[in-house]
Amino acid sequence: MQKNHKLVYINGKTFEVLLTQTHIQARIRELAWQIHQSYPQEQTIYLIGVLNGAFRFVADLLTYFPQDRQLCVDFTKISSYAGTYSTGEIHPIIGLKQGLKNKHVLLVEDIIDTGLTIQYLTKQIQQQQPFSVKIATLLFKPQALRTSLQPDFIGFEIEPLFVIGYGLDYNEQGRNLNDIYVLKD
Ligand code: PRP
Repeated sequence: MQKNHKLVYINGKTFEVLLTQTHIQARIRELAWQIHQSYPQEQTIYLIGVLNGAFRFVADLLTYFPQDRQLCVDFTKISSYAGTYSTGEIHPIIGLKQGLKNKHVLLVEDIIDTGLTIQYLTKQIQQQQPFSVKIATLLFKPQALRTSLQPDFIGFEIEPLFVIGYGLDYNEQGRNLNDIYVLKD
């Protein structure tokens, strides 16, 4: 991977900045407050991050939640992308834990594209009879959505373009970038 101040080059593809680190962080600060306020203080949020992409978003949400927020954190790992395309096939790699009955579950995604990953996870969680299931995503591509599920908390709505950075990858590269980049070609 090569990088200058505006462009990133990975395996012959060029990416340009779409959302800056400053913009992303400011929006996550707002989202954390919005999520916090939507759950009464006495309710514990069972936050489940979807690996790999959501690891940075989860970490920053935790940074910006009030520090007395009642919260549990866990992760699940799903894979659906090959290169720059969502394959539509869901592969569970680290499954959901049991024990979500009567809990307030918040699924946290870096991006919702077709929505098939979040639909799969929501169905799996519903089988455990939680009290509620909500969805937070940093990025949302409404034009790519292939399910009727809508996220409850959205950082940014974007065009159906391929993006990397801030946890999102192109063939496992680019997750370390602090800005979010879009495929230029
Ligand atoms: C990405 C992303 C979401 C999913 C969204 O994961 O992190 O989990 O795809 O796509 P969908 O809405 O079309 O289902 P990916 O499979 O690339 O795995 P990764 O997070 O480990 O990169």
